[in-house]
Amino acid sequence: MKKVFETARLGGLHLKNRLVRSATWEGIAQPDGSIAQEAYDIYDELADGGVGAIITGFTSVALHDYYFGGMMRLCDNALLPQYRKLVETIHAHDTPVIAQLALGAYYRKENGGYTQIEPDAMTTEEIRLVITQFIEAAVRAQEAGFDGVQIHAAHFFFLSRFISPAVNHRQDMYGGSTENRSRILVEILRGIRTSAPRLHITVKINANDYTLGGLDEEECVRICKLLDAAGIGAIEISGNGTSVRGVRAHQNEGYFVPAAAAVAEAVSCPVIVVGGFRSLDTMEKALNETNIEFVSLSRPLLREPDLPQKMQWNPEYVSRCVSCNACYASRAHKCVFRGRDKNAR
Ligand SMILES: Cc1cc2nc3c(=O)[nH]c(=O)nc-3n(C[C@H](O)[C@H](O)[C@H](O)COP(=O)(O)O)c2cc1C
Ligand code: SF4
Repeated sequence: MKKVFETARLGGLHLKNRLVRSATWEGIAQPDGSIAQEAYDIYDELADGGVGAIITGFTSVALHDYYFGGMMRLCDNALLPQYRKLVETIHAHDTPVIAQLALGAYYRKENGGYTQIEPDAMTTEEIRLVITQFIEAAVRAQEAGFDGVQIHAAHFFFLSRFISPAVNHRQDMYGGSTENRSRILVEILRGIRTSAPRLHITVKINANDYTLGGLDEEECVRICKLLDAAGIGAIEISGNGTSVRGVRAHQNEGYFVPAAAAVAEAVSCPVIVVGGFRSLDTMEKALNETNIEFVSLSRPLLREPDLPQKMQWNPEYVSRCVSCNACYASRAHKCVFRGRDKNAR
């Protein structure tokens, strides 16, 4: 019988409970990837709230990645002192921290500017450059003291589009079959394992692209098996349109549980499921009716960074997040309701 509030091992990491903060982009970093002071405060409060491990918001591996604004970046050694400080802030609460490594899109330098290039139009050298960027960013993460990295291959970010049959129509070793489209992930994974051996390595992947001709649950399981065989440390299951609106406690929670359960049946590494968890009993049901080992949360921790403590204190407590998604448009992606009610901080 698994309990949310029991210690658990995520690979080599020791977590005080089975709750993981799913990556949540703050959008307040400088264009070069420098961390805003406010971000340290956000992560300090989050770690203080009792979550078992924290995955940072997406952190680009490239300087010339213009996919979203305010992205953190691990693309330059000069930034290491700032990222070390972030790690120390979180470690002060005895909480492991994983950097989510991402590429929004690949941008080719041409005509004096940068143009977004989709997987089909990339040269093999450009694909190798991206693989190297991920590996070098992981080495920097290790250098900064992070406990792990997460390869962001979900939500139609670059790697998610690359592995999707709806987007990747290449006819070389990086396209066509599931194995070929996933090769980029396996090469990044192997490279990180070799170059940054101390790191726990996880991946966030779509169970379903919800796109005509895109990745579906069956192919997601096949890709996860390939990654498991190549030594991935954990797999977090998500999907396009991940932040579903209108989630209500005990009604429509945990919408990726069936897909994550199928992956957990097929692989040997721990599986984390994200998406619409608002109550402790729904989380424990998912943990005990399947082989899923961890539950991850994003919006509930924007609403209440101390939700883990509240739930541990009162198991009946349900998240106050109403899944309106207004935080996507607010400054620093803070919950728009914070501070408006008596009991919320
Ligand atoms: C403001 C905001 C920023 C997000 N940023 C990221 C991100 O950086 N990387 C990522 O993989 N998912 C990101 N997500 C998606 C969440 O990690 C999560 O998959 C999704 O919101 C569903 O989980 P929830 O119901 O617990 O919020 C973000 C979600 C929100 C609301
Ligand atoms: S704005 Fe607040 S209540 Fe609305 S989805 Fe975001 S965290 Fe939840």
